[in-house]
Amino acid sequence: MGFEIKLPSASEAAELRFLACVQDAETRDTVSRLVAELGWHGAKVAEGGIAAAAGMIDPASPPTVLLVDLGDGADPFAALDGLAEHCPPETRVLAVGSANDVTLYRRLIAIGIGDYLVKPIAAEHLREALLQASRPSERKEAAAAAKRARLFAMIGARGGVGTSTLATGIGWCLSEEQGKRVALFDLDLQFGNLALGLDLEPGRGLREALEHPERIDSLLIAGAMNGTSDRLRVLAAEEALDDQPLLDPSAIDPLLASLGEGFDFVIADLPRGLDGMARRLLARADKIAIVTDLSLAAMRDTQRLAALVEILQPGAKPLVFVNRAGALPRGEIARAEFEKGIGRKVDGIVPFDVKAAAVMAQHAKALPAAAKSGKAAIELRRLATLMAGTAKEPPRSFLKRWLG
Ligand SMILES: Nc1ncnc2c1ncn2[C@@H]1O[C@H](COP(=O)(O)OP(=O)(O)OP(=O)(O)O)[C@@H](O)[C@H]1O
Ligand SMILES: [Mg+2]
Repeated sequence: MGFEIKLPSASEAAELRFLACVQDAETRDTVSRLVAELGWHGAKVAEGGIAAAAGMIDPASPPTVLLVDLGDGADPFAALDGLAEHCPPETRVLAVGSANDVTLYRRLIAIGIGDYLVKPIAAEHLREALLQASRPSERKEAAAAAKRARLFAMIGARGGVGTSTLATGIGWCLSEEQGKRVALFDLDLQFGNLALGLDLEPGRGLREALEHPERIDSLLIAGAMNGTSDRLRVLAAEEALDDQPLLDPSAIDPLLASLGEGFDFVIADLPRGLDGMARRLLARADKIAIVTDLSLAAMRDTQRLAALVEILQPGAKPLVFVNRAGALPRGEIARAEFEKGIGRKVDGIVPFDVKAAAVMAQHAKALPAAAKSGKAAIELRRLATLMAGTAKEPPRSFLKRWLG
């Protein structure tokens, strides 16, 4: 079933700055004819493809819609990364190219490209994509997304390794010790224990928001949260087990846009079910941490999760946090061997802290509050700072700048 796209009004069309950097005469003709037909008088259609695009962008007057030709390059991501430096967040980017490859398409959409069309381009498809990208509401959404809180996704290689403990501990360090505004987001609507771990009742409305994204607004989200302070809020639910929530992965975008206004960081605790919503969140995250222990099974699954992250967000370099180290000394793989097994270094090792475990069990507190000067708390503090960005940033990506 097709849907109708509202044409921009004459004044909106006049405001639009459109730049296309294409590679061949046929594409150039199709694009030129279309922009003339749409009345986009200020449109510029240039040759040179993606390689020329950065040099064509006027920083004083950047394009509102940018169309780049990726040619037949199978790996255009480095060039797109470079281009992100030259565009403001509101710019919508469309791509065309010769590769008819669904994996490439998915990766482009995952990093925030509005659409990808295979050459030779059908004029009606391009027309639809251009109109979609030029909708003022679409651009407003993109701008709102740019204001959003930074998103951390934390996922456990195995159950019980302490993902929720580290998510809560990192959130606590950032909010209570560094004065940031943090939302802890528990994606496990049935078994999640983020709220429980802080002695909080889950709020009401998270399920509704994730099942009906069109209902998301700041009131619904505020009602779904509860907090230990103004700076540390928990977005969680405790849905009945005899019912299966039908979550709509597209809810992630308006949810993040809504949280973006009030928080510096959103820390998502992902269940390992890896449903569509968890995958979307991994694709959107600014930082991803895989939490593991030093067992053989967790070594295998850390490696497999890192490979998945590479597919969902190429170049994202997930962090690997070992937790509960020393809890089972005889059953643990040595660090060097573990690193060899996962093919990367670990970024932190949080020891098993017996004292903290006892206080957490009795008083439902975050680990760094339970044993403030213990070795586990000290390492957690370092990891919070690492995630929050004093460490080197991963390569910039369109993901952070546009919603796909
Ligand atoms: N570094 C640590 N020192 C001591 N106890 C810890 C540490 N990390 C986690 N724990 C304890 O381990 C248990 C499991 O932690 P947690 O619930 O965070 O695991 P999880 O990986 O989120 O589990 P699930 O797979 O059920 O979501 C909890 O009792 C927690 O208090
Ligand atoms: Mg958990």
